Amino acid sequence: MESLKYKRVLLKISGEALMGEKNFGIDNNRLASYAMQIKEVVDMGLELAIVVGGGNIFRGIQAEEGGMERTQGDYMGMLATMINCMALQAALEKLELHTRLQSAIEMKTIAEPFIRRKAMRHLEKGRIVIFGSGTGNPFFTTDTAASLRAIEIEAQVILKGTKVDGIYSSDPVKNSDAVKYDTINYREVLQKDLKVMDMTAFTLCNENNLPIIVFDMNTPGNLKKVVMGETIGTLVEANA
Ligand code: GTP
Repeated sequence: MESLKYKRVLLKISGEALMGEKNFGIDNNRLASYAMQIKEVVDMGLELAIVVGGGNIFRGIQAEEGGMERTQGDYMGMLATMINCMALQAALEKLELHTRLQSAIEMKTIAEPFIRRKAMRHLEKGRIVIFGSGTGNPFFTTDTAASLRAIEIEAQVILKGTKVDGIYSSDPVKNSDAVKYDTINYREVLQKDLKVMDMTAFTLCNENNLPIIVFDMNTPGNLKKVVMGETIGTLVEANA
C-alpha cells in the first residue's frame, strides 16, 4: 500500500511553467501533464491547494519598465493568474476531479471569493482548491500568495514545482562544480544568499516554520514521489 508523507499541501506552479516550449500563453500538453500528476496524488487522498502564477501572460514588473504604474501592472498580473487558474481547473475537471476556484479579487461570475473557512471545508471534502489573483494586493508575488495561503490553510509544506530539480550552491548552468542540496535550512539559505523565493515569501515561511520543497515538476511522477517523501528536489526546513 502506497502511503503519503503529507495530508495537506500547497502546490505552487509558475505561469512560465505552463508555457511549456511556447513563448507565451498556455501549452495544452504541459497543462494536461500537470493535471495527470495532480490526479495521481489526489486519488491517493492528498488534500491539495494550488496557487498559480501569471508570468506566461503578464508581469507587473515589466509593465513598470514600459512606463506603466507598478500597481496597475500588478493588478493586470493578478488577472493573468485567473486565466491560468481557469485553464487548470478545466484540465482537472476533464479528469473528473472536483475543484473549487477562489479569487482574492472578487469576480463572482467566474470564481468564489477567497474565504479561508470555505477553502478548508473544500479541502476536507477532497476538493482541489485553486487560489487565483495572488494575494489581491500589488507588490506581492504569487510566491508570497502561496506562502500566505499555505499558512492560512495549515498546509504541512509548500511544493514549488519548477523546471529545475532543486536548489544549487551556484548556477549549475554557469558552474560545473555547483552542488545540489537535498536538504538545507532557512538560515543557510540566507547566509549563502540562495534564491528560493522572494524575500517576503521566504520570510513568511521562515517565521511560520513552513517547509518548502523545490522540485522539477516537468518530469511526470515527481509530484507523487515528493508527497510520498522521496528525496527528490531540495527540502528547505526550519532552522535546527
Ligand atoms: P459545500 O457547502 O461544502 O457543499 O460546498 P459547495 O462548494 O458544493 O457549495 P456551494 O453551494 O457554496 O457551491 C456550489 C457551486 O457553486 C460550486 O461549484 C462553487 O464553486 C460555486 N460557487 C459558490 N460560490 C460562488 C461564487 O461566489 N461565485 C461563483 N462563480 N461560483 C460560486
